[in-house]
Amino acid sequence: MKYDVQKFQLISNDEIAEGIFDMRVKNEELAPLAKCGQFAHVYVPSKTLRRPISVCDSENGVLRLVYQVKGEGTRLMSEMKSGTDVDILAPLGNGFKIEKGKRYCLIGGGIGVPPMLYTAKQTENPLVITGFRNKSLVILQDDFKKAGAELVLATDDGSAGVHGFVTDILKERINEFDEVCACGPTPMLKAVAAVCKGNNKPCQISLEERMACGIGACLVCAVKVRKNGEEIMQHVCKNGPVFNAEEVVF
Ligand code: FES
Repeated sequence: MKYDVQKFQLISNDEIAEGIFDMRVKNEELAPLAKCGQFAHVYVPSKTLRRPISVCDSENGVLRLVYQVKGEGTRLMSEMKSGTDVDILAPLGNGFKIEKGKRYCLIGGGIGVPPMLYTAKQTENPLVITGFRNKSLVILQDDFKKAGAELVLATDDGSAGVHGFVTDILKERINEFDEVCACGPTPMLKAVAAVCKGNNKPCQISLEERMACGIGACLVCAVKVRKNGEEIMQHVCKNGPVFNAEEVVF
């Protein structure tokens, strides 16, 4: 795994939905190394811990990081101005494993949607299912269409797209693809994993955990997985964030 900490030039940092920002940062050495499902660890001045943000896209030396303001750190991040330098450790973690010739169903829930854009760009004719709580939180729909994905939008309250959960659509269309990749809140991942298991579909899920070092040197991001019949602890930052869904102990 090749990563480094370097300065990235902040190109833009715009609010694209309520409390959700789209940051573009340039570094021609590190940005092209990013694979789908990996993340960047962003230093926010005055905060001790970096913020882990999944890679939404990487193109022409520019990393796109779409994040939600959830606390003081991400609020400060949203105030960073274009033209300044951002200290970023990247690219980190193990991303989605994509095989040629397979049709993928990519599922994103809420702020788990952004990493599926870069993943969609690495797959052929994917079915992308995006789920949000309501209309005001919907993001990246045009980007997925531009990437050539077949796109389904669902909202919990029916204020945009289909009224329902991503798993309702997954169940209906389960025979149309070979494998599932998903990122989103834990209850959604658990439900997606259960549907895939019940239908014998391979499934990779990207877990979100609190992180500190981002490189496997502390224990903040530990998660329980089952390997060879034994339950062991692994690091979301280093062994993941993407895991085989069958191995994760929810
Ligand atoms: Fe330190 Fe994962 S964040 S081990």
